[in-house]
Amino acid sequence: MTATPTAGPGRTPRRIGPFDVPAIGLGCMNLSHAYDTPPTPEAAEHLLRTALDEGVTLLDTAALYGFGANEELLGRVLARVPARHRDRIVLAGKCGMTGVGGRRVIDGRPETLRRTADEALARLRTDTIDLYYLHRIDRRVPVEESIGAMAELVAAGKVRALGLSEASAATLRRAHAVHPIAALQNEYSLWSRNPEQGTLGATRELGVALVAFSPLARGFLTSAPPDPDGLPARDIRRTMPRFDARNYPANLALRRALERIARDAGCTLAQLALAWVLARAPHVVAIPGTRSVAHLRENLAVLDLAPPGEALDAAGRVLNSTTVHGARYNEDTLAEIDTERCGAAG
Ligand SMILES: NC(=O)c1ccc[n+]([C@@H]2O[C@H](COP(=O)([O-])OP(=O)(O)OC[C@H]3O[C@@H](n4cnc5c(N)ncnc54)[C@H](OP(=O)(O)O)[C@@H]3O)[C@@H](O)[C@H]2O)c1
Repeated sequence: MTATPTAGPGRTPRRIGPFDVPAIGLGCMNLSHAYDTPPTPEAAEHLLRTALDEGVTLLDTAALYGFGANEELLGRVLARVPARHRDRIVLAGKCGMTGVGGRRVIDGRPETLRRTADEALARLRTDTIDLYYLHRIDRRVPVEESIGAMAELVAAGKVRALGLSEASAATLRRAHAVHPIAALQNEYSLWSRNPEQGTLGATRELGVALVAFSPLARGFLTSAPPDPDGLPARDIRRTMPRFDARNYPANLALRRALERIARDAGCTLAQLALAWVLARAPHVVAIPGTRSVAHLRENLAVLDLAPPGEALDAAGRVLNSTTVHGARYNEDTLAEIDTERCGAAG
């Protein structure tokens, strides 16, 4: 059972609202935020330019990432892209969670979302953000109010399409009743099966794309899984139960079995993990993140690979919501999140 190097399922464009995109986009978070050591600005710009040259059209950023630095980085790179190419790029941003006084704050009030959007437009050096997500549901603000304010951004021409992130099926339906939602961005990977609790079906039914974030399990499902003890103190994986000493060794044992499946299928573990996500449904788009050109190329190569269905099924039997050890976030973070729980209740 070997991966076929023909046009894989990823080569057929996938729909996000009014946009057609390749099935793999680029998550830009770790160019400025969250993991390990961010690259230098020059290396980050080189990575982004290479991604665009390699055919990536969906770029995913947020006001939160680097507290504005990630939007500025994308703004610098996109400003130098010729207009003909720029028109093919789907620039996705997020509001509703920002850095305030050096801390992460969830705030879905209409006035905050309006201000965040104006700041994002300035940093991104653009008049319009193609896809704008509410990054988190603010429990103090009805989602109808947040989405109502974002619908005004669409009416004003500042944003083309709306999305939600870390939202449940019930919240997606409420939001969609206020304004069409083009995409729901939730975590989805072999070890985070939360969408299977409701949002995979709800998005399919409503014609909403499901954008899978952290499809490589934050680096765990790759040839270079993190060593949690060696991570800098600020790396957010240090706060995640799946990477802690109680759970990580057992998760690594499962990962070794996945590596054997990938080897037999003639692909890398990262490619097996991405192919598994893309094979869940044709309305799923994955946005792996990387600082490395080599990793970028390895991930994009999955668009031209079709690992056999038996290998994907075998991977799903090894790592799933029953076999994974630990929750995906710690309890404080889970308490903030609207998404259905799953896998060690995270
Ligand atoms: N909406 C939300 O709440 C939310 C939350 C998290 C993430 N996101 C979005 O989703 C995107 C992706 O998620 P993510 O960055 O959390 O996780 P991910 O894509 O699952 O994994 C990224 C990690 O994997 C490593 N990696 C990537 N490709 C690799 C390869 N081929 N071989 C070896 N290592 C590889 C990267 O390290 P290197 O840099 O060394 O390659 C990085 O540490 C983010 O950039 C962001 O846009 C959204």
